[in-house]
Amino acid sequence: MLDIFRPLPPEARRENLAAYQKFLIDRDGALDIEKQQLERREAGMRRYEKPLPRMRDVDLDLFNAQYASFDANVATPPELLLLLALVKVNAAEAFGVTQVFEAIHRRAVKNNDMCELTLVVEETYHTRILLSTALSYGVEVTAPYKPPAALRTLIAGVAYTPELVSRPLTLAAEILGLCSFLNLLEKSREVLRHDPELRDGVEERLCEVITDELGHMSFNRACLGPAGFAQARVLLPIVARGISGVVPEIRALGAGTLVSDDEITSLASCRRLPEQVVRSAFLS
Ligand SMILES: [Fe+2]
Ligand SMILES: [Fe+2]
Repeated sequence: MLDIFRPLPPEARRENLAAYQKFLIDRDGALDIEKQQLERREAGMRRYEKPLPRMRDVDLDLFNAQYASFDANVATPPELLLLLALVKVNAAEAFGVTQVFEAIHRRAVKNNDMCELTLVVEETYHTRILLSTALSYGVEVTAPYKPPAALRTLIAGVAYTPELVSRPLTLAAEILGLCSFLNLLEKSREVLRHDPELRDGVEERLCEVITDELGHMSFNRACLGPAGFAQARVLLPIVARGISGVVPEIRALGAGTLVSDDEITSLASCRRLPEQVVRSAFLS
């Protein structure tokens, strides 16, 4: 069983990075740096961006009001909470990507290694994939939700910190993201059990994101030595607490995470991962 916080020997780190690079080329196809697009993922998006044949009902006024500023005291049906959570969950990551893109681009050109740049472009697809859920409710959300100002300042700061500091933080953030997406996946099956077609559509989207995130976690593990792992472990609960209020819909839905030891262990043991994810993900 993979122990997420066990450091890898230098040889295994090199091997894993090389294997991940190959994996990304197979999964994503060619990278267009200028357009920030991945050939195969663009083709895949066409399927997600096609709404289901039958539109689902939604209280649009309530959606718009809660999207703009969520109020936990306003009665909100679980299905609407789930939709809000899905269109907002990637807010911090989407903002982070815009902040780090240039720095990672420069590093990629300097080292002639497109691995991390490809990974960052994958993140932009997560936002699009998750936002596309709203199309089946006749709602078009075109831009990622903007995280609160304090968090934006923090993320922008992290983007300029040296890799020695930012890498452990990135690993912690990827693990946290994985826990959130897995919680949302389990919640979505429960909330949408009356609507198997929509439930499967949401599950497919979340599985696609989770598959990528397992690769991101593995990549960041391969970039770290023992000191970095120790830092990531300390940072994880701090980041989890810091981020927990950013998308209050997730908490209201009962899908919040404080990354308990059990959640970490279940991630590593693949106990909670859908079979299709285990089959297609890069996990090391
Ligand atoms: Fe992501
Ligand atoms: Fe990620």
